Parts: sequence; structure tokens; C-alpha cells
Amino acid sequence: MTEKTLLVIKPDAVQRGLIGKIISRIERKGLKIIALKMMMLTDDYVDKLYDIHVDKVFYPLLNSFITSGPLVAIAIQGKNSVKVVRKLAGVTNSPEAEPGTIRGDYGNDLTKNILHSSDKPERALYELGVLFQEEDYVSYDLINEPWIE
Ligand code: CMP
Repeated sequence: MTEKTLLVIKPDAVQRGLIGKIISRIERKGLKIIALKMMMLTDDYVDKLYDIHVDKVFYPLLNSFITSGPLVAIAIQGKNSVKVVRKLAGVTNSPEAEPGTIRGDYGNDLTKNILHSSDKPERALYELGVLFQEEDYVSYDLINEPWIE
């Protein structure tokens, strides 16, 4: 099913110069980027994006990390995109992530874990609504030709 999801390249990955490598994994998989922006999050945005975590003990740590530098927010559309992007990302706790996944290849920390991606289609629509306006989205045809790296 074609659906939308949110992928956030977190400040640790931006500071390590991993934006291009991460975006290339999305493109290689044939998923379509329909909006993209680099931004600094204020507390207001973080409270909304992570509303389900605000009462957790780790929230202050998460908040200070996610506001520590710019991030890249990416709206993605494609078949099963929620599940596929989470598979590409690997499990949340980077030290446990399988080699070959983005966190498995580049991450080694639970909080500074390179990425955030939505876990359900309904949740994706909510999270996309926090970070993107209607006018941020573009429309184009993705030519899904097989290609060799
Ligand atoms: P993310 O997928 O963005 O969802 C919530 C984030 O909180 C998670 O990735 C981690 O960055 C962070 N996180 C989750 N659990 C913990 C924890 N136990 N301690 C610290 N940070 C956590």
C-alpha cells in the first residue's frame, strides 16, 4: 500500500556528515522523497513530535539531544514506506541494530541513534503534520528504473 512516512536525520548524523549516505539508502530502495527540510527544533516542536514520550524518564535527555543541532526532516512516500523505512533504519537501540541497517552501520548509542522514523501510518500523518505544512510538499514522477551503484 502506498503510504507516507516521516524520517528524521538527527543532529548526531548531521554533525557526522551522514545526510547524503542516509538519503541514498532511501533512494536506492525506490522510495520517493516528497518534502525535505533542515531545521532546528524548539521545545514546542519536540513536545509535539515526541508527545508520547514527554512523561518518560529519558525525555529530558532526548529533548536536549534533539535540540542540540540541526536535523533533516524528510517526508517519504512509497509502497509500505512505514515498514520499509523502519527496516532500513534498524532497531531503535543502535548497539543492537543489525549490520546492513543504517543504525547497525553508523550508530552505537540509544539516544544518539541517527534517525527517527514513524512506527505506524496514522502516526506518520500526525508527525508529518508537526514538521511540514501543505506547501512544503512537491509532486513529481519517480522513475523506478533499476540502477547499479
Ligand atoms: P526515536 O525512534 O526517535 O524515538 C524516541 C527516542 O527516544 C528514541 O529514538 C531514542 O533517541 C530515545 N530513547 C528511547 N528510549 C530511550 C532510553 N531508554 N534512554 C534514552 N533515550 C531513549
